[in-house]
Amino acid sequence: MQKNYVFAMATFFVWTFLLLLATAVIFINGDSRPNVLFLIIDDFRPALGSYGEQVITPNMDQLAAQSIRFTDAHAQQALCAPSRISFLTSRRPDSTRLWDFMSSYWRDAAGNFTTLPQHFKENGYYTVSLGKVFHRGRCSNFTDDYPLSWSIPAFRPTTKRETKKNKLCPGPDGNLYSYTMCPVNVTKMPKGTLPDIEITESAISVLRSLSRTKRKVKGKGRHKVMPSTDGHPTPHTPFFIAVGYHKPHLPFRYPEKYKDLYPIETIEMAKNPYFTTNLPPVAWEHWKDVRKGEDIPLSAQGVDYYQPMPDKYHLLMRQAYFAATSYIDHEVGRVLSTLEEEGLAGDTIIVLLGDHGWQLGEHQEWSKYSNFVSATRVPLIFHVPGLTDKTQRHHHHKFPLMDPFYRTRTNRPDLETPSVNYSGESRYTSSTGRYPGFVSNSLVELVDVFPTVAELASLPVPPLCPVDASGVALCTEGVSLVPLIHHITDTPSKVKVTNWKNATFSQYPRPSLFPSHKTNTPSQDRIAYMGYSMRTKKYRYTEWLSFNNSNFNVSWGDPLARELYIYSQDPLEDVNVADMSENVQIVRELSYQLGLNWRHALPVFNEDTTTVSTPTEWYVK
Ligand SMILES: *[C@@H]1O[C@H](CO)[C@@H](O)[C@H](O)[C@H]1NC(C)=O
Ligand SMILES: *[C@@H]1O[C@H](CO)[C@@H](O)[C@H](O)[C@H]1NC(C)=O
Ligand SMILES: *[C@@H]1O[C@H](CO)[C@@H](O)[C@H](O)[C@H]1NC(C)=O
Ligand SMILES: *[C@@H]1O[C@H](CO)[C@@H](O)[C@H](O)[C@H]1NC(C)=O
Ligand SMILES: *[C@@H]1O[C@H](CO)[C@@H](O)[C@H](O)[C@H]1NC(C)=O
Ligand SMILES: *[C@@H]1O[C@H](CO)[C@@H](O)[C@H](O)[C@H]1NC(C)=O
Repeated sequence: MQKNYVFAMATFFVWTFLLLLATAVIFINGDSRPNVLFLIIDDFRPALGSYGEQVITPNMDQLAAQSIRFTDAHAQQALCAPSRISFLTSRRPDSTRLWDFMSSYWRDAAGNFTTLPQHFKENGYYTVSLGKVFHRGRCSNFTDDYPLSWSIPAFRPTTKRETKKNKLCPGPDGNLYSYTMCPVNVTKMPKGTLPDIEITESAISVLRSLSRTKRKVKGKGRHKVMPSTDGHPTPHTPFFIAVGYHKPHLPFRYPEKYKDLYPIETIEMAKNPYFTTNLPPVAWEHWKDVRKGEDIPLSAQGVDYYQPMPDKYHLLMRQAYFAATSYIDHEVGRVLSTLEEEGLAGDTIIVLLGDHGWQLGEHQEWSKYSNFVSATRVPLIFHVPGLTDKTQRHHHHKFPLMDPFYRTRTNRPDLETPSVNYSGESRYTSSTGRYPGFVSNSLVELVDVFPTVAELASLPVPPLCPVDASGVALCTEGVSLVPLIHHITDTPSKVKVTNWKNATFSQYPRPSLFPSHKTNTPSQDRIAYMGYSMRTKKYRYTEWLSFNNSNFNVSWGDPLARELYIYSQDPLEDVNVADMSENVQIVRELSYQLGLNWRHALPVFNEDTTTVSTPTEWYVK
């Protein structure tokens, strides 16, 4: 075990050098480092056509077609603030010491850890935050971590935040309500806009202005990377722009036309809309925030925490989440088409991810707040010009704005445009397959994103964190995915992978062993239990352990509840079989692995270029 770990550390340094060379080749036409466009979508499960869900997302699918997409990627905690602080520092919640929204700022509570944008900024990039990148408030020092992470103060939309007091959704009687499902006429909204539209507009204006700056010297020969000075980019400053969208987070407030894409009779129920068998009560999340909507016929106060969502609302909720997703797809499309129009698409790496998943009725759950795969699994897409788009032929444009209503209007299913039929299916009719693009279903985690983006941009790759890394500013508790990306895109690479990670790790805190008022988002001083969950290709195994919220001690070895799902017989995690006598041995083994934790599930690298073994779960579409 220890040997693998030391070896993995050593290979990181080899990579930094070798892949610096390899990725440098990709940008042969550029005179500088690539830009980065980093797209974060809130509460976004892999609800994309290209991930096999019945959602109409032609713009994100078009990006996926020229990218590599990871289909088994997981957040470290299914809650916005801890997940974002985790992937932006590349450390797990136990290391950032943030498991709630606001109890601490990691630089004060855990260590002065370098963030992903900060790393780019310190390496001469102009870094910009638009929308929800960090979670706002104390966890990012009330400044979105400006100035350490960003060259200029973060942009936040000016229109009112959605709170219980903010009634913005028109009801049948013409009055305004605080609804969970909220299609709106945008012109009637405050300032005639929506927060995510404001974010798109800020992104478009930043891209246009950077493009103007860059054009000032076009054709004047090669130049070195120039750092931004006094917060202002020079014509040779590469950028790192993070754009964080709020939807499809609750409430589902979106431009009403997107509802037309999803007639209610075409919406299907979740595949497993029933309670999990033998689920320990501590694992249950009772989606109280959904119950608060004035349109949901369930009481949020004094509730029966296991009251199921009526079928009618089950379908309406799915319709609203999908419509809000198609809205965000359009906003993403506007940013990507601007990137191309401004001549920046050829040397900009694009990353798209969700901060965690969202349960749309699976297990009768309607939120995140748990360790179910439906809550931790996220879309994760990397677009690297010259590398992930090499099999795609572009006629004229890389990222033309795609219209989700196209087929409805033209009725021309033969056109090479995502065509929509009313079962909610969207389809590419091109000869390259229904959803082209590179695909990896290897197990990966959001902590892997930071080292991956650093390596793709030829920046120093953070080394693996030592066990006590509180004093180490730059290190990772993940691993760069570049060897996988090279493997799958058939790119020559000196470092080979013989086995990728064999497990991903997520966790969720609880204040009590039974559902209660504060179960879903306990503040740090109320956390009494932590559910540590490990997913392998065969199992998900979880232990619920006592957690001391003053010294963060965990009572390993003394689980109060366990969960085991065996995917060969139960792919959707419907039956907890941890307490069945025939599983005693496998529970013992998984418990041992879980105790060893993520360091002992790391990939195994091999510098001998002659032998490459390909784990069977890898495939390329
Ligand atoms: C944290 O790190 C930044 C960047 O290296 C440095 O400027 C700052 O002084 C550090 N803060 C503390 C409290 O050490
Ligand atoms: C956090 O905010 C406080 C108060 O505005 C400020 O004094 C402090 O320097 C900030 N910390 C960092 C690391 O930026
Ligand atoms: C939206 O509201 C504006 C302003 O009241 C109105 O002119 C327009 O017709 C409305 N659109 C729809 C589709 O109802
Ligand atoms: C938690 O840790 C604190 C500080 O070490 C200790 O005083 C307290 O007794 C612990 N609580 C429990 C329940 O073990
Ligand atoms: C942590 O908890 C374990 C098990 O409950 C206990 O044996 C150990 O002494 C505790 N350590 C600290 C530092 O409190
Ligand atoms: C995961 O891989 C490590 C080596 O990296 C190995 O020691 C461990 O047994 C594997 N665990 C499982 C569950 O396969």
